Amino acid sequence: MLRSTLLAAARSGTVRALVEAGPFDPLVDRFVAGTTVDAAIEAARRIAADRYVTVDHLGEDTTERAQVDAHVHAYRTLLERLGREGLADRVEVSVKLSAFGQRLPRDGDKIALEAARQVCEAAAAVGTTVTVDMEDHTTTDVTLATVRDLRVDFPWVGAVLQSQLRRTEADCRDLAGPGSRVRLCKGAYDEPESVAYRSAAEVDRSYVRCLKVLMAGEGVPMVATHDPRLIAIARHLADRNGRSVDDWELQMLYGVRPQAQTDLAARGLRVRVYLPYGTEWFGYFMRRLAERPANMAFFLRSLATRG
Ligand code: FDA
Repeated sequence: MLRSTLLAAARSGTVRALVEAGPFDPLVDRFVAGTTVDAAIEAARRIAADRYVTVDHLGEDTTERAQVDAHVHAYRTLLERLGREGLADRVEVSVKLSAFGQRLPRDGDKIALEAARQVCEAAAAVGTTVTVDMEDHTTTDVTLATVRDLRVDFPWVGAVLQSQLRRTEADCRDLAGPGSRVRLCKGAYDEPESVAYRSAAEVDRSYVRCLKVLMAGEGVPMVATHDPRLIAIARHLADRNGRSVDDWELQMLYGVRPQAQTDLAARGLRVRVYLPYGTEWFGYFMRRLAERPANMAFFLRSLATRG
């Protein structure tokens, strides 16, 4: 119930405009690296000392064409900086197609594909990669079609699949081909029972089935979870399938289980941190609150004591 309410608020333009218009809230700091490219570069450099990074310039649900151009410009600037500062071998970028106009009423899919292509060109120029985040289930088909199109010229483009969706085991089979980079996560959106598993146990069981397919395949599984049990299963499956540390990676979010991130990296595993920055942090932040009721309690307590 609380999760659904928070996820509904995350999609509310009115609430978002009100909250984001205020000063950058230090409480948001835990999950978001800051609002500027300088802040993102500084955090990426610090993390890249022992882990890998994927940087996300925050934005989603773009409603005007000008916003698409602004997001592409932000990614170009970010990628140039990563190249210039010698970080491109350990830091890639993640993009959301809704920030690139996927939901625009006319030609949204084409506009988003073209914007993503421009970001891929900028990434290729500095020698790094791009992963296309997955949003709610109404966009799964078109997002996977966009990834397929991008991979014609940029075969290293990463896809994301969500174990909460009933379709995902089949998608894993489709995407487990040679060199295919696939990030497997549980899924952060409130999805209907018709398309998604609704209980945590079912989502976890689906995650394991999907992991088995990806680990046995010929691609590069990117295991995005903080769940210690699933991480242990992933490590076991990687060993069983003869994968070396460079053939797969663990991924976690900035600010979530940071000690586990550094411990796993110190044990020789390849760990990548998803690092978001930018002014449009509201939707991302609300999804992080929804994942863990304790975060909401902490947030409300901090607000009360600040007053
Ligand atoms: P689960 O939610 O069961 O959490 C396991 C444990 O991790 C918790 O007990 C807690 O200790 C810790 N934890 C998890 N979330 C926390 C939080 N917010 N705050 C504090 N502790 C927390 N989703 C999506 O739909 N599309 C996408 O493209 C992506 N991309 C993505 C990239 C990366 C690198 C990660 C790690 C995750 C995503 N996600 C995502 C989000 C994902 O779908 C999921 O919502 C979260 O990762 C939480 O699920 P866990 O697998 O961590 O398990």
